[in-house]
Amino acid sequence: MTQPLTIERLSAHYGKVQVLEDFSLKIEAGELVSLLGASGCGKTTTLRLIAGFLEPTGGTIRLGDQDLTRLPAHRRNIGLVFQNYALFPHLTVAENVGFGLKQRGAAVPERAARVAAMLERVELTDLGDRLPAALSGGQRQRVALARALVIEPPLLMFDEPLSNLDAKLRVGMRAEIRQMQRANGTTSVFVTHDQEEAFSISDRVAIMQAGRIMQFDTPETLYSRPANAFVARFVGFENLIEMRVLARKGDLVEAEAMGGARLTLSQVEFGAIPDAFVLGARPEGLMVVGPDAPGIPATLGLRSYLGRAYQYLCDSAVGPLTAQGLLGAAQEVGSAARLQPVAAQCCILAPEA
Ligand SMILES: Nc1ncnc2c1ncn2[C@@H]1O[C@H](COP(=O)(O)OP(=O)(O)OP(=O)(O)O)[C@@H](O)[C@H]1O
Ligand SMILES: [Mg+2]
Repeated sequence: MTQPLTIERLSAHYGKVQVLEDFSLKIEAGELVSLLGASGCGKTTTLRLIAGFLEPTGGTIRLGDQDLTRLPAHRRNIGLVFQNYALFPHLTVAENVGFGLKQRGAAVPERAARVAAMLERVELTDLGDRLPAALSGGQRQRVALARALVIEPPLLMFDEPLSNLDAKLRVGMRAEIRQMQRANGTTSVFVTHDQEEAFSISDRVAIMQAGRIMQFDTPETLYSRPANAFVARFVGFENLIEMRVLARKGDLVEAEAMGGARLTLSQVEFGAIPDAFVLGARPEGLMVVGPDAPGIPATLGLRSYLGRAYQYLCDSAVGPLTAQGLLGAAQEVGSAARLQPVAAQCCILAPEA
């Protein structure tokens, strides 16, 4: 049965160091949510709290109607898949997969049938008698996945399950995890520090920094409408330009950046623009045009060839910017140019408090 996971105001400490503070997250029944963030931001700690390996100093964790917060780990019934597989080295593949069923007291014939069915699903039927040491990394990870799924847990959690695999296998396993998760409708938490992996596998992604959630949204929304500068940088809006509105005419806004550069922006294209804002632009969101066109005045620096465009490091009154120019019009280092924002590759943010 599929159930929502509700985490409310969770906090956690290691000794005196606070790792999570006022952490709330609601995962809908059947949803796959990724926790995404840099090393040390608290992803594994969050999983350890949910699994019951670490006790929170405040807050609650509920799965459906059940309060897990004070329940011992072995009674939480959560399927776990780790980066290092954590297989039992002295047990065969089949015994590893059947371990949880045995612990739960399943009868031998039932156990054998369920293990066989699960091995078939992860395409390991022929390897049931092998020991983990005689498997490839991808095969080991499939055993770990089978072991987590076979107990049909109401909640699955993955901690960087693919980071020990090579790039090609990683993408294949990603799709496999997603398909199985969809087929079973199991509520899932997936931890990674790889943005592409998180975005491709998840219904929603929580972007974390220093024990806090900076934004929790669908990949599409995170990518096109980041809520703050941290998330904007994270999803590639490398240029963040502080601006203020000088005048408004219809949906046109005339705005000025630090150092005096002026831009006219259409709210039809850019969305609503408040009186003070930060213009976020991906490199392809700042187009290099001639020095007499409208745009942010800049001096072009290092040029790199990207195949579909040239990218330029630029100097400007608002600081260093990264922009792109057309292939047919290569510019030399030191040329004067203007940088024009391209709405589809820009976002409007509230200024940081
Ligand atoms: N057992 C521990 N004792 C003390 N501090 C710890 C312990 N485990 C983790 N920490 C600290 O807590 C913070 C969060 O760690 P956590 O393992 O949750 O990070 P993470 O997001 O999973 O990082 P990574 O991507 O590197 O796995 C880090 O600053 C870490 O150094
Ligand atoms: Mg971790």
